[in-house]
Order: sequence, then C-alpha cells, then structure tokens
Amino acid sequence: MDLSTMVELAYLASAVLFVVGLKRMQSPATARPGNGLAAAAMLLAIIATLIDNQVLNWTGILIGVAIGGLAGAVAARTVKMTAMPEMVGIFNAFGGGASALVAAAEFVRLQNAGLAVDAGTGITIALSMLIGAVTFSGSLIAFGKLNGMVTGNPVTFPLQKPVNALLFIGLLVLGASIAGVVGALGGLTPIATFGVFTGLALLLGILLVIPIGGADMPVVISLLNSYSGLAASAAGFIIGNMVLIISGALVGAAGLFLTMLMCKAMNRSLANVMFGAFGQAGGKAALASGEKKPVRSVDAEQAAMVMAYAQSVVVVPGYGLAVAQAQHELKKVMDLLSERGVDVKYAIHPVAGRMPGHMNVLLAEADVPYDRLYDLDEINDDFKGTDVVLIVGANDVVNPDARDPNSVIAGMPILDVDYARNVIVVKRSLSPGFAGIDNPLFYMDHTMMFFGDAKKAMADVVKEVREA
Ligand code: TAP
Repeated sequence: MDLSTMVELAYLASAVLFVVGLKRMQSPATARPGNGLAAAAMLLAIIATLIDNQVLNWTGILIGVAIGGLAGAVAARTVKMTAMPEMVGIFNAFGGGASALVAAAEFVRLQNAGLAVDAGTGITIALSMLIGAVTFSGSLIAFGKLNGMVTGNPVTFPLQKPVNALLFIGLLVLGASIAGVVGALGGLTPIATFGVFTGLALLLGILLVIPIGGADMPVVISLLNSYSGLAASAAGFIIGNMVLIISGALVGAAGLFLTMLMCKAMNRSLANVMFGAFGQAGGKAALASGEKKPVRSVDAEQAAMVMAYAQSVVVVPGYGLAVAQAQHELKKVMDLLSERGVDVKYAIHPVAGRMPGHMNVLLAEADVPYDRLYDLDEINDDFKGTDVVLIVGANDVVNPDARDPNSVIAGMPILDVDYARNVIVVKRSLSPGFAGIDNPLFYMDHTMMFFGDAKKAMADVVKEVREA
C-alpha cells in the first residue's frame, strides 16, 4: 500500500471516529468516551496531515505540541463550569481565525505564483475568509460579553440593520471580484481587494454580535460554532483535505441543530435571538409595576421536614445551582432522602442554566446516577402525583406565566411544577431570572420560599434531614 492510500485511509478512519464520537455525545453516560474518540480522531488526522505534507521537522512539531497541549490543559483544568460558554467562544474564534488564515495563505500563494484564480477556487477562498473572519471577530465579542470585557447590554444604533445589509452586499461584490467573476474594483490590486474584504468581514462579525444581549451569548456561540465548522469545511476544499471537509460539515450541522434546539426550548426564533435585543426592557418594566405580594417563607428545618416525610421528591436544578456550586450538597440531601425510602428524581429542562447540558454536567460532577435524570417530556405528567418539588436556583424554567399568551415568555415549554402538592424554592431573593420577569409560582399557597445561597441552604438541610 502506498503512502497516499495510507493517508486517505487514516483520514477515513478519523472521519468515522468523529461521527461515532459525536453520536456518543447524545447521552451523558457515553459523552466522556465519545469525547475521547473524537480527540483520538483529531490526533490521527493531524498525524496523517503532517505525513501527507512531509512536515516532518520533529523539533517544530514537538514545540507546537508542547505549547498547544500545555495551553489547552491549563485552560481545561482551570476553567470554571459557569465559564464554559466563554471558553467555547474563544475556541470558535481560533477555529474561524485558522480557516481565514488558510484562505489568505492560499490566495497570497496563488497571487505570488502569478497563477490565475479560477471562479470555483476564488469563491471557496472568499467564502472561507468571509465565514472565518465573521466567526473570529464575532466570537471574540461574544467572549468579551460573557466575561465582562464588552458590555453585556445590547448595543444598538439607528439604521443598524440597513448598515449590516449594505456591508453584506459590499462583501458580496468584493468576493465576486476576488473570484474573478467581476473585474478589479476602483483600481484595487487583487491583494488590496482581499485586504478590504477581510477588514469588512471582521467588521461584520462585530456588528452582528454587539446588538445581542450577553445572556443570549450561549445561543450565539452555538451558531458561531456552526459557522466555524462551515469555514473549516470551505478551507478543506481549498487545500483538498477530505477530513477537514467532513469534520467541518459535522461541526456545522451539529452547531446548527444545537442552536435550533436551544431556540425551540426558549420558544424564540433565531431571528428574535439575533435581532431582538432581548433580556432588557420587557422584564424590568414588568417587575417595576409589581406591588409587594406576600410569600410563605421557610427555613432549613421546615424544608427538611416536608421532604423527609414525603413519598416522592422531584428536584429542579437551575442556573443558581451552578452559581452556588451546590450540586454536591444537593446530592447529599437526596442521598439521605433516598435512604429514608423517598422516591427521588431530577427534572432537567433543556435550557436550565446558561449552556446546553449545563445541569447534566453539574449533576454528573456530583455523581448523581443518570437513571435519576428525567427530561421535560418524560417528567411533566408526573408532577400532579408528586409530593414535593425542590427547585434549586431555577426560575424561568418553572414560570407558569409561560402559559399566559400575553407573557414575555409565552409558549416557552416549562416544567409544570405548580401542579405538585408542595413546592420549595431555594433562591436568595424574589429577583427575576434571565428573562427578567416575575414568577407567580413564588406567591402560590402551596409554595414555600427558602431564601438563601443554594450551597449553604442545602448544607443546612443535610444537617436537618440527618436529625429528622
Ligand atoms: P434563571 O431563570 O436565570 O434563574 C436563576 C435563578 O437563580 C435566579 O432567579 C437567581 O435568583 C437564582 N440564583 C442565582 N444565584 C444563586 C445562588 N447563589 N443561590 C441560589 N439561587 C441563586 O435560571 P433557569 O431557571 O435555569 O433558566 C435559564 C434561563 O436562561 C432561561 O430563561 C433560558 O431561556 C436562558 N438561557 C439558557 C440557555 C441554555 S442553553 N441553558 C442559553 C441562553 C439563555 P436570586 O438572585 O434571587 O438568588
């Protein structure tokens, strides 16, 4: 077997491993080995590419592996769970930037060699640069919005959408010139045209992301992830690399599906996320007009009693669980209840927290068995027969207002916790969650508000259940 056949086979094997790895990420039980398979596929693809291109300078390779490996390991070890979306955001920026660099390198190589750029290659180069540059600058803004370096508020200005549309049309014209479909523009050399094209694509990435509120960034990051896949796929066409085309297409499709799933679980269209400047005015106005309503407040001892003498308890975790890092204490409470014969389940809303699978990851960290986790569709009918629902740091995902057609979150699928016999809500105050709206659940007769930081509250309940 000759070398090129071996390289093609290695590419094929890594493409298959990518698909199997992705498939295994469907369940928390198989996600970790799935991730391992995908990482092995990446290693195989890199080795095959190095051999294929005769890049066999071991000193250079080892220095690259050491720097990249160290940076990746430190970032992965030190990142906080709540900061995962920003880490994915910066990785997307690198992915998009890499594809843009491949496009630029190929364009410059062709120009320097005096070779004519045929329309097919030119369009692929322009596409890779456009998507890669938009992904790069857009992801950097998303990263900045999440870690506070850029304002989390939507930044809007008059005629914003027409400006973006004009910019996009300009990019199409410049792209057509790069591909040779139309002639040189305004006496610009091909390299100058390419430079202007790159600059405007970077600007478009910034302008597309600044009007989106910080809390919507996970959806944006998922969409940009999809773009980075498309850019990689286009780069794969430029350099004729099969595995890059396949893996880019996989990332593009997976990112798009994830984006659509997130939008569906929030009952919002992608257009509303991208152009709606959501998360600001509506909710705060709703709260400002609200008069003070009475709530029933309980302490750790009362909450423990209610749960210890129940037959069934369903836990609903939310963003506050992640903020407080209360998953281990929560697990202790649930273990003690299980030992007492209480039937314990966890209800997972698809957009609880701030990133896909957020609650699954947190609960897996605390070794909560997967078979105790129930999706919204699986558990919603059970609430009517449930003795106690314990809500820890969740708000919007249990807001019965979603059933009101006039609500800001009308139509958002929610966990129907208000149908349970008793509801205990653990949070620090009556403050709203991400959607910025009040939650009528807090004022219902069968709801008990247990005010406090979730970690401390759960630790106190552990003591009380032990004594019960
Ligand atoms: P939220 O509605 O955001 O509510 C979280 C609650 O946690 C807050 O009301 C807050 O109340 C409480 N909290 C914060 N820190 C706490 C602490 N240390 N201890 C106890 N409680 C604490 O969360 P949710 O119910 O999980 O809903 C998620 C929201 O995010 C949805 O609106 C969803 O559409 C949106 N979203 C989700 C995603 C994904 S992919 N998950 C992406 C984008 C947007 P206090 O301040 O009173 O404590």
